[in-house]
Amino acid sequence: MILSIESSCDDSAISITEIATNRLLFHKKISQEIDHSVYGGVVPELAARLHAEALPKILEQCEPYFHKLKAVGVTSTPGLAVTLVEGVTMAKAIAVALNIPIIGVNHLIGHIYSLFIEKETTFPLTVLLVSGGHTQVMEVKSLSEITTVAKSMDDSFGESFDKVAKMMGLGYPGGPLIEELAKDGDRLKHNFTVPLHQSPLIAFSYSGLKNAVRLAVLEEEKKENPNFKDIAASFEHIATKHLTMKLKKYFKTNRPKSFAIVGGASANLYLRGEIEQLLKPFNAPLLLSELQYCSDNAAMIGRVAVEMYKQNMFSSLKELDISPKSNL
Ligand code: KG4
Ligand code: ZN
Repeated sequence: MILSIESSCDDSAISITEIATNRLLFHKKISQEIDHSVYGGVVPELAARLHAEALPKILEQCEPYFHKLKAVGVTSTPGLAVTLVEGVTMAKAIAVALNIPIIGVNHLIGHIYSLFIEKETTFPLTVLLVSGGHTQVMEVKSLSEITTVAKSMDDSFGESFDKVAKMMGLGYPGGPLIEELAKDGDRLKHNFTVPLHQSPLIAFSYSGLKNAVRLAVLEEEKKENPNFKDIAASFEHIATKHLTMKLKKYFKTNRPKSFAIVGGASANLYLRGEIEQLLKPFNAPLLLSELQYCSDNAAMIGRVAVEMYKQNMFSSLKELDISPKSNL
């Protein structure tokens, strides 16, 4: 079995995965969303302290598995340096104490493998990753053949929901809050410009849309009874249209055989529906992770760690140092 730890942002999580079967045997996650909500975003120092409190509590519950562990997996990049170091330090201590190898897992590959926690792996796959930290399209042939073909030049899709929610005073994380508010809103009320719609680039950008929304929010606030539902709906519509327009352009030369959406924002039902429409002419299936594994978790890290274990992809303790100079 492999014990895997996730602490790249605001979720403390540990999993136990069986090597022979890829089966998830244990998974526990303690989310810090409520703690960061008052600030409208993740406060790294607070997140690190909360990991230091939560991870040992979860680890205690894994004690029955300790004697069966063959390796320890841990998210080593990308993420917040001060929170990554909490998980990595714990993983190093376990590796040394039990004399087992350590496996540094890339968090983004973790999101891709969130598709395969309860299903078999199917490659090749075109993947849209939409999380709080990333918005990118990847062509995935195998664990070690992953090419990023498009990414955001500034804010990510999920981050733009968080920032818009903050402007409206809704709290954090913004994605589910905006999605809920948008349900009763008019998607066509605010005619926000689709980012990069005239650019031939296959890339994403959310900073311009975010600022256009800011102006609309300020206008609405001048009213006696401000109501942000139409702004939320129009924002969600344009944020999604930006993704589908760029994907459509990409599909002209790269027909998708199988397509997946992963990451926290893949929980968004409007986005799922629009991508489904986009895929229809290609007859390409849409793969999604179980809802509980869309956002950050250790089950997906464990799934990658098992693949890496089978391919002897171990890390040295030194390689996993979170150096103050490293660019995470
Ligand atoms: O993957 P994740 O848990 O963490 C990162 O790796 O960043 O993604 C969290 C992000 C947040 O920005 C959150 O607002 C967004 O996913 N999110 C959503 C929805 N649910 C979560 N964005 C849009 N619609 C949602 N329903
Ligand atoms: Zn993530």
